[in-house]
Amino acid sequence: MITALRLRAEYRTDSPWVAVARPRLSWIAETDDPDWAQSAAEITLDDGRSTVVEGADHVFVAWPFASLAPREEVTARVRLRDALGAWSEPSDPCRIRLGSVPAEDWRARLIGLAEPTDAAQPFIVRRTITVDRPLASATLYWTALGAATVRIDGRPIDDTVLSPGWTSYADRLVHESVEVTSRLAPGDHVLGAEVTGAWYTESYGFGEEARRVYGDQPSVALQLHLLYEDGTEETIASTPEWEAAASPEVIASGLYEGETIVHSAAGPWWADSSQWPSAREASEQPVPVARFSEPVRRIEELQVVEVLTTPSGRTVLDFGQNLVGRLRLDVEGPAGTTIIARHAEVLEDGELAVRPLRRATSTDTFVLSGEGRESFEPAGTFHGFRYAEITGWPGAMDPDRIRAVVIHSDMRRTGSFRTSHPLLQRLHENVVWSMRGNFLALPTDCPQRDERLGWTGDAQIFAPTASTLYDCNGFLAHWLVDLRACQARSSGVVPTLVPNVFGFAWPAAGWGDAATVVPSVLADRFDDDQLLHDSVDSMTAWVQVELEAAGGAGLWESTLQFGDWLDPAAPADMAGAAKTSPGIVATAYLFRSLTLLAEAAARADRIEDAAWAWERAAEVREAFLEAYVAPSGRMVSDAPTAYALALRFGIAVDPGTRAALAARLAEVTRRDAFHISTGFIGTPLVLDALSDFGYDAEASALLLQTRVPSWLYPVTMGATTVWERWDSMLPDGTVNPGEMTSFNHYALGAVVDWLYRRVAGLEPIERGYARVRFAPIALPGLDDAAVELDTPAGRYSASWRRHDGRIDWTLTVPAHGRADVVLPGLASTEAGSGHHAWSTANPAPNPGSALSLWSPVAEIVLSPPAYRAVMEALESSDPGLADLVRRRTDWTLRTPLAAALFSVPASVVDTVGAVLDALGPPAPAASVQEDDH
Ligand code: BGC
Repeated sequence: MITALRLRAEYRTDSPWVAVARPRLSWIAETDDPDWAQSAAEITLDDGRSTVVEGADHVFVAWPFASLAPREEVTARVRLRDALGAWSEPSDPCRIRLGSVPAEDWRARLIGLAEPTDAAQPFIVRRTITVDRPLASATLYWTALGAATVRIDGRPIDDTVLSPGWTSYADRLVHESVEVTSRLAPGDHVLGAEVTGAWYTESYGFGEEARRVYGDQPSVALQLHLLYEDGTEETIASTPEWEAAASPEVIASGLYEGETIVHSAAGPWWADSSQWPSAREASEQPVPVARFSEPVRRIEELQVVEVLTTPSGRTVLDFGQNLVGRLRLDVEGPAGTTIIARHAEVLEDGELAVRPLRRATSTDTFVLSGEGRESFEPAGTFHGFRYAEITGWPGAMDPDRIRAVVIHSDMRRTGSFRTSHPLLQRLHENVVWSMRGNFLALPTDCPQRDERLGWTGDAQIFAPTASTLYDCNGFLAHWLVDLRACQARSSGVVPTLVPNVFGFAWPAAGWGDAATVVPSVLADRFDDDQLLHDSVDSMTAWVQVELEAAGGAGLWESTLQFGDWLDPAAPADMAGAAKTSPGIVATAYLFRSLTLLAEAAARADRIEDAAWAWERAAEVREAFLEAYVAPSGRMVSDAPTAYALALRFGIAVDPGTRAALAARLAEVTRRDAFHISTGFIGTPLVLDALSDFGYDAEASALLLQTRVPSWLYPVTMGATTVWERWDSMLPDGTVNPGEMTSFNHYALGAVVDWLYRRVAGLEPIERGYARVRFAPIALPGLDDAAVELDTPAGRYSASWRRHDGRIDWTLTVPAHGRADVVLPGLASTEAGSGHHAWSTANPAPNPGSALSLWSPVAEIVLSPPAYRAVMEALESSDPGLADLVRRRTDWTLRTPLAAALFSVPASVVDTVGAVLDALGPPAPAASVQEDDH
């Protein structure tokens, strides 16, 4: 029996508005029935129209009715027929309304202040409208070059913030569509907007080079469509005749600088009866297109966890979580009282660490009117912060009067992960928080310093993890429209930033490849075939740029690259100086993009294009293997990223070569004593590359490493988001000296996708998770793992847990899913919908023998307690010594530990020997497993 059935049109579940006249429909059934299958679906509209779609299709099913007219609203339901012919109950109703305005019907002019006195000046605009007879419906369309809060009679018309967000303005502007019928009873109403410059007037660029690239002043356009009950229609559109005034309260506003709000004792602007000057038309008048992705909203509020007094005597609020948003203050005090809020992600020497923010002063100023309880929340800005320093609070500060308001694009959360390993659990939460902070209107690198830009590399690296944690299909599809537009302006070169505020572009591997990777990820995870088809031309143009840069289907070694950005071995001021040569990264990505293009072209029935791309890919493979891979299976860059690329991108295909590459990768991982050794490019690949070949112990030791550099090191340092650098904060608590040091960058968090696919075992092998390969890895060092994942096929859940010498495995397959089950010691099988459980023996690890100074370093590093004891003994004698010894040592050697410690003072060596002796015989298997490396 179907227990729940949910229908949706296009991407959004938070709104009935769609941007296309033929919205695709998707539905998800829930059932407890084993092996349930859909044989047909009947879609019915409330006006009686109905159609039956035969078969199992349920994701992005083509609209089966006549195209919707602007503002037309229908309510749809679906019911499903199972394999035996029984029909389900109908789904809940799904409202669908067309939000797009045909270009020829767009009449609103973008208007702004006639005589601004400051650059990027916040302003208000209004017009009184008279509704003289009852309305059947009222729809407000609006947009801004900047960001706006639109109000009718003083009340905001919706709950979005910073709308309409940021797009590549020269190519496309998005309009909002809002139903406002209930707000317009017959009578007079004041329609108006508060407008700030936001992304439009921000200055982009590094240091002194920063400049406003779009315009000096924001503008807004509003178009109200009224349908009266008598059937007549009226459109009221903004014109320069509307009144516009400098904002009486928001004196200045910028994303980087923050906002200044001065409350006035005069009444609100919508009640002000004085005449304001007329507005002025903006010099640009782009015609906007309807939004199809979720807007930014206030998602959550956090309370102050602790009020700190810093060594210099300042008051700093700690929200306990690095977040993105702004403060909301409720305060009473005398008129003119000025409260200043400064924001930072971390403290250094007990004070706000603002150096990493660079040009972003991130300071909000609030001036009280003295009229009772006053509320402040800066609407035109956001900050990345955990700490806020408050000065000027009138009287004793009540922290309960202050909240941190978390904002981001309002996507649906889809993935959750549970483990009893507290550090790993926190790593997962940190990745979620970094996604939240950087999926704000567009995917950004970071949310705090003077960047917050749509770096293409960061987005493509993180896309699989993002698609696991949230339904970000619409969000990323929205950004890809801008990517394609920016690419078209640069003769096929996909810029390193979208929107491209640099204004120029060059082909950078791993960054420009967002054009091939992101649509492919969305097609795989969300079954968004249309998007993939729409992307094939962009993918083709990009690989042609790459091929040209490579001088034909050979090695791509001739252009400037970011390479394996932020390899932990790179000096703080040379983020691109990685162990893996840029040519390996670039040529591997050329191969990757060619294969993704080939697959996409094949799916789009462009068979000749697919064949062309396969042929080029084969040539690149040959060149790559010839130049970079020795017959022994060593690579010219003997670094994990190089091996991971050759393996995971499928460049090496010969089984012997692959096995040799994987063996060397495992060896190199041991050599580095299981410290992470990859930058942006290798990090999402390295654990897959190990676990594909059964190197689970190595993958585990790398994942669970806590010493710097590692995934868990920041967690041990109290991180609540993912850092840009493996060591954004150094072990002594100081901020990394690099001028590029963010504490909220999601790229290195891309490991989370592997946790869901490999550790929990939900590996999608058919589009939209129609089929998964359930082959979880009971990772040494973990006792359990459990995930739930909402997919287009429905909700999968999977778990495993060790207990009493056994491992219990569970899997729930949703109605539209299937699973190939591959568990250790059991015959492979297939599982259909329903709950499944298995139990297998938990293999006890080999206990090994007692270790001493005379044990080979290769054995020391394989024993987590022994290795840790050695490091702690070195560390306690001299901070920095442990790290020095670790880096100097090749931990694969048969050399005794005593020899590796040749330069260490004898007394320290004695201490190391003593702690190893004290460890005695190896601990029982169970407790060895619980240790972190
Ligand atoms: C950003 C990165 C970005 C990089 C380009 C940095 O400033 O923060 O995340 O990808 O530049 O290499």
